[in-house]
Amino acid sequence: MNTSFVPSPDARCAWQVRDLQTDRSWIIALDDADRADLLGALRAGRTPGKALLDYRRGDFAFGRALAPLKRAFAQAQHGLGIALIKGLPREGVSAEEFELLTWAIGLHFGVARPQDKASRYLNQVRDVGVDYRSPTGRGYSSKAELDFHIDGADLVALSCFNQAPTGGDSMATSSTAVFHRLRNERPDLAEVLMQPYPWSRQGEQPPGELPFSMQPIYAVQGDQVFCNWNRNRLNNALKLDGIAPLTAVQREAVEYLDALVRSEPFMFTMRLEAGDLQLLNNHCMLHSRTEFQDHPEPDRKRTLYRLWLATPDGPHMPPAWSIFFGATAGGTVRGGIHGDHYNDACRAFDRAQAADLGMGV
Ligand SMILES: [Fe+2]
Repeated sequence: MNTSFVPSPDARCAWQVRDLQTDRSWIIALDDADRADLLGALRAGRTPGKALLDYRRGDFAFGRALAPLKRAFAQAQHGLGIALIKGLPREGVSAEEFELLTWAIGLHFGVARPQDKASRYLNQVRDVGVDYRSPTGRGYSSKAELDFHIDGADLVALSCFNQAPTGGDSMATSSTAVFHRLRNERPDLAEVLMQPYPWSRQGEQPPGELPFSMQPIYAVQGDQVFCNWNRNRLNNALKLDGIAPLTAVQREAVEYLDALVRSEPFMFTMRLEAGDLQLLNNHCMLHSRTEFQDHPEPDRKRTLYRLWLATPDGPHMPPAWSIFFGATAGGTVRGGIHGDHYNDACRAFDRAQAADLGMGV
């Protein structure tokens, strides 16, 4: 594809760090009344022992707290690509309640997607000793510094129950802004990044399917730039049988990309606090986090809850994105990793939730 079709770099999601520092509209602070409404809705809607997949949006009437949540989701999807909700109820809230609150917020804004081989729709991001660099390693179960990457759905929502005493800072970079820089400085490398690269499926593919896919890192669809980057998955794919090593120019392109992603004008660093909920639009944001040192006590350990959401107003995606996301049509249930336990309960949830939000399955 010829990059001359790339739209103007004025899209709000093409931000640099200084833009996020001056435009603070992406930080949405809840007040006491919002918190009271959220907590009231959570406790009225919660049924002990009920499976997450059996809850529906109508179980949680958020009252006046819905308006700021809507602002945040709109900002992530149609504005800067990033939003931070501050001040979810946390004081006196159990981990199980906080997890359900995260799930309940997701029910209002999209169809949650399974995230791994275990087909979990809501993952705890917590160090359980997993080696991130192993062939099947996933960063959310480790304490390692992560490569910049996207998650596997239109939006990722990450709520913070406990933060680590040191480390665990979150980084975000606009992949759109980086693409425009690449295109100005090295249009030849921008072109190379729009050609297919191998991408490991981390052993989570269904039986009989290849352990890797070939997909471009960047593509343009309509007036939008899309990025799908994950260095760890590229490196793991390169270790698989039958995968050709990168050419010199492919290597140069990914090195150039990674250097830009971590460079001063583009990489924004923030630290989630207990009660924060971060939203990222995976199509235009890359994210990472630093290594952390944890509390020794199990109930104080760094604990975040992660949701992947397909959204009703998700964009129409480039054809090559069907490899990873399934459907490319806007507003369809797509993305996620079905895993080994994607069963009738999962299908029923997907159908009911899609119907509730007016989405195609
Ligand atoms: Fe992630």
